This record gives sequence, structure tokens and C-alpha cells, in this order.
Amino acid sequence: MIEVRDIHYARLGTRDLDAAERYATDIIGLQKVERSSDRLYLKSDSRHHTLAYFLGDPAEQVIAFELKDWSTLGAAHEQLRAADVPCGMGSEAEAADRHVEAFMWFLDPTGNRIELVARPHEAGRRYFPTRDAGILGFGHVGLCSTDPVRDQAFWLSNFNTLVSDWIGPCPLLRVNARHHQMALFAAKRKGIQHINHQVAEIDDIMRAWYFLNEKKIRIVFGPGRHPTSGGNFLYFEGPDGMIFEYSNSDRTIIGDLSAYKPRQFPLHPTSFCMWGSKPDIAEFKE
Ligand SMILES: [Fe+2]
Repeated sequence: MIEVRDIHYARLGTRDLDAAERYATDIIGLQKVERSSDRLYLKSDSRHHTLAYFLGDPAEQVIAFELKDWSTLGAAHEQLRAADVPCGMGSEAEAADRHVEAFMWFLDPTGNRIELVARPHEAGRRYFPTRDAGILGFGHVGLCSTDPVRDQAFWLSNFNTLVSDWIGPCPLLRVNARHHQMALFAAKRKGIQHINHQVAEIDDIMRAWYFLNEKKIRIVFGPGRHPTSGGNFLYFEGPDGMIFEYSNSDRTIIGDLSAYKPRQFPLHPTSFCMWGSKPDIAEFKE
């Protein structure tokens, strides 16, 4: 069993780093920490970065989890290799590019590239953005799955992943006390379905709603409230069609974990929003 601590970063290819930088800093409210001709690193908390853009194909999208114990990296690689999962160790140069001491990569059954990182770098400085969006940090991703039942089995059998709730066949998965760090949504493609940043309170969600409307950013869902995590939310469209989300998902699952029962919600708009907002997001529709 591979034990991971939390989701750590997302890496996205883009053909236009300048546009990605403007959007990530001026609109989302992330802090630029490093920029070169082909790289852009953005932070949202005390870590070196939680989102990176590289010059390349926007279809190339990666998420990373931090291992609970850095010394298990080799064993994780061995376990996945023995299970015939496409995987490999990252080189020193690739680790330096990710600001981690070491990492490995693998492909989930849908073909999503996932990285497992050991000893990722801290920033040494707190997050200090130019726009006060109320961001507390990188929260979770929605990941596209061509077969959520198969991919759920892959995560449950290989990792310390637990199901917090289902919406239809799609599991909301956690590796720690927070309600979810990854949700697998049925899609015909691979890739990241949305990237979530946690914000402090509902005022941040509503302030963002006015701000994004003023900036003519396309809102694709919300403002609303998820019945699963309990978070208030707002989804909006970013560079290369990527969907970003703010939410204040306050629900944690702690204490007697054996007493927690994942709840089954039907694949219906009310399972995504208890206020009645309708998603303009393909994977959230019936
Ligand atoms: Fe979300």
C-alpha cells in the first residue's frame, strides 16, 4: 500500500505563458515565485509552488501527491512496476524542475500522469499575493476518468485512498482528514477536470463572483454550495479551457474513521449544488 499525505501540485502545459501568468496572478490571485522562458511557478501557501505552467502542449497535465514517508519512494516504484502500471523514476534534473528532492511518475488506468514526490521544497516565505482572493491553499482536483469504477478500484487497491462520498459512480477521494483531495469524474478524455483553491469564507466566494463578472471571466458554475463537502463554491474558466474553483469546504472526517459511511448521491445537479445552481460543465451533468 502506497501512503500519501496530500495532493501537492498541478503542472499544466500552455502555449502562452504570459497569458497564464496574467490570469494566475491577476485573476486567481496566486503569487508568482519564479518565471523563465519556459516555466512559471505559482504559490498559494507555504510551499515553493502548488501550480506550475510549462511551455508545451495544454493536453499535458500532471498532478502530484506527497508521500507520507519519503523513504518509501523506491518501494512505491517497485509496487507499481510489479503491478504492470506504466511508471518510472524521475531524473535529478526533472526533480530540480519540480523543486522536490526526488519523485516518480505513473499513469492511472485512464492515462492520467500522476507524480509521487519526496521531500518537496518549502518556500521559506509565506504566500503574499497581489490580489486578496482569500486563498488558503491548493485544495483538490477533479480528474477525468474514462471508467470511474475501474479507476476507483486502482486507487483503493494501491494507495491509502478512502471514499468520502459518491456522486453517481464518481468517487470523492481523500488521503487525509479533508473531505477530498481528488474526485474522479466520468469523461471521454483524460486530464484535469478542475483545479480547486480553498478560500477562507463565503465572503471570498461572493466577492470573487462580483470581481470575475466585472473582469468578464466566464463563470461555469455557482455561486453555490456542495452537499458533499459542505463547501460554498464558484467555478470559472481559465487559460486553455481549464476550470478553476474557489471553495471553502469546511468538512473534515476525523475521529472514528470506521464509523464514517460514504454517502451515495445520485448523478443529478442537486448533488453538486444544494442551492439550485446549474453547472455549465460537461462532467457535472446527468
Ligand atoms: Fe471541486
